[in-house]
Amino acid sequence: MCGIVGYNGKNKAVDILLDGLSKLEYRGYDSAGIAIRDKDITIFKAKGKLSNLKEKLANEKLKGTCGIGHTRWATHGEPNENNAHPHISNDGNITLVHNGIIENYQEIVEKLKRHNYKFYSETDTEVLANIIDYYYKKYKIGPIDAINRTMVRVRGSYAIAVMFKDYPDEIWVARKDSPMIIGEAKDGMYVASDVPAILKYTRNVYYIDNLEAACLKKDKVIFYDLNGDIIQKELKEIKWDLSVAEKGGYEHFMIKEINEEPDVIKKTISYYTGNDKIDFAKSNLNKEDLKNIKEIYIVACGSAYHVGVCAAYVIEDLTRIPVRVDIASEFRYRKPILNKDSLVVIISQSGETADSLAALREAKNAGVKTLGIVNVVGSSIAREADHVLYTMAGPEIAVATTKAFSTQLIVCYLLAIELAMVKEQITKKEYIELLKEINTLPTKVESILKDSTNTIQKLSSQFASIHDAFYIGRGLDYAISLEGSLKLKEVSYIHSEAYAAGELKHGTISLIEDNTLVIGIVTQEYIAEKTISNLIEVKSRGGYIVSIAPKNIDTSKASNFILTIPETSKYFYPSLTVIPLQLLAYYMTVSRGLDVDKPRNLAKSVTVE
Ligand code: AGP
Repeated sequence: MCGIVGYNGKNKAVDILLDGLSKLEYRGYDSAGIAIRDKDITIFKAKGKLSNLKEKLANEKLKGTCGIGHTRWATHGEPNENNAHPHISNDGNITLVHNGIIENYQEIVEKLKRHNYKFYSETDTEVLANIIDYYYKKYKIGPIDAINRTMVRVRGSYAIAVMFKDYPDEIWVARKDSPMIIGEAKDGMYVASDVPAILKYTRNVYYIDNLEAACLKKDKVIFYDLNGDIIQKELKEIKWDLSVAEKGGYEHFMIKEINEEPDVIKKTISYYTGNDKIDFAKSNLNKEDLKNIKEIYIVACGSAYHVGVCAAYVIEDLTRIPVRVDIASEFRYRKPILNKDSLVVIISQSGETADSLAALREAKNAGVKTLGIVNVVGSSIAREADHVLYTMAGPEIAVATTKAFSTQLIVCYLLAIELAMVKEQITKKEYIELLKEINTLPTKVESILKDSTNTIQKLSSQFASIHDAFYIGRGLDYAISLEGSLKLKEVSYIHSEAYAAGELKHGTISLIEDNTLVIGIVTQEYIAEKTISNLIEVKSRGGYIVSIAPKNIDTSKASNFILTIPETSKYFYPSLTVIPLQLLAYYMTVSRGLDVDKPRNLAKSVTVE
């Protein structure tokens, strides 16, 4: 959840670190700090957004060509300067930045206090600096031994970058469960939590595995395993282009990424289809694998979980095999009953979400086949799942997911259609018709963006000061209303609930009063009438109904405002209805003057429990 960056090379480190941190700020913005090594190590920290640290550094002349940096999402210790990273060991021998959580840090504090260590912050990270220092001094055989002994001793997740006073031209790094990449370039070596931080300087990266460490010298990197033996790693090339990590003239990354949806949906469809066929060979998922699947579990968190809820309706309806959707933080501890011929699908944009990663390992330990639907190439879930279907959304910077959500939906539709075909639940004709229809989605999303953006912007300003909102629908419409509600909540801080329309009469309708905003989603013809009568009930209690429906479904009697979307197959409507829902959340947040891309208390990738 925090972002770490490091550079050791020929150039001034301060600019590279600040630039890298600005590309990682979506991971946490409670405080930021850097440590620059020139003759000595100098540390600068500031509470709040990176801009506060930049202000502090404005008049500093920092020439050092080696340094580490951090942007924080507070877990242990409140967001203040004292708890900001980098942290140092008692005598300053160790300077360190950390992303993750040390679960047994209190026990280690007690141990270190018995060895006269003192602590100035409330963080678990300061403990890491001191325990590395403790082993370094106790065994006197160098950084790799001190780091490896620490990795054996601590429990939790971490990606760390460390500077040892005695080793001026080196940065040492290590990781377990928290993401880390190492970049190699002519002008030096880079380390970062994510690709956008170093994409400007290099496309050549190494992926370091769990419980591995490395030493970044100015011109090379040396990798070590937990025994301290040198190991080789393969250099990989990142294909993303730099512009995706910039705002490209848009006011916020969220609205930029919403407008990228037609393109990334098209990219994802064409990556897996061609000549009227779906081809998952790139993920070595063959027809035989699919044929033997008797039941599916979809496990994820947040918006990715909502993709799972949508996918369950489509997969069950098309393939007639049971699909169970689970929230990862529940799945990992409820000892799920997993049958050998089931498939566990983990959906994750970042591929690093701790609960989803743990759910994946739970399924693997149970000997069940696993499939990751992931956006970040080389992420932990992508590397540990038996099969991985990448979504082609490109880097997603805004904390609130939009384009990754839409590409995850597409991959789930393709999985459902291919499964139904392999299981002979649909004919070749139906198969081709569905593929034809899926290929119309990019244009239909484009037309919604073109025709409705201004309308939704105006509508949103009307509701800028509301406190509550409700989203209702039935079937797939209920599934997507869950996402609409989360999107509004997470960026605008307006309380909202999503409900199966038929459920309102059993309690929640008592909350409806004059002008209560209710978003009604009505795309499923086979139950539209039911949803419309539920909306009429709410309207008669004073609710202000905004309905989202295709032209062939008349919601006029039940609506105060109608957002019309293009028609499509009943299975694919979530890909169209989610666009006005995302735009509504975006413009209501803008009209409240809030920071859309970095909503309070949130982070893009939740790498701790
Ligand atoms: C969505 O906008 C949120 N950022 C959050 O709910 C997110 O979907 C969730 O944390 C899962 O993240 P993942 O897809 O990276 O696993």
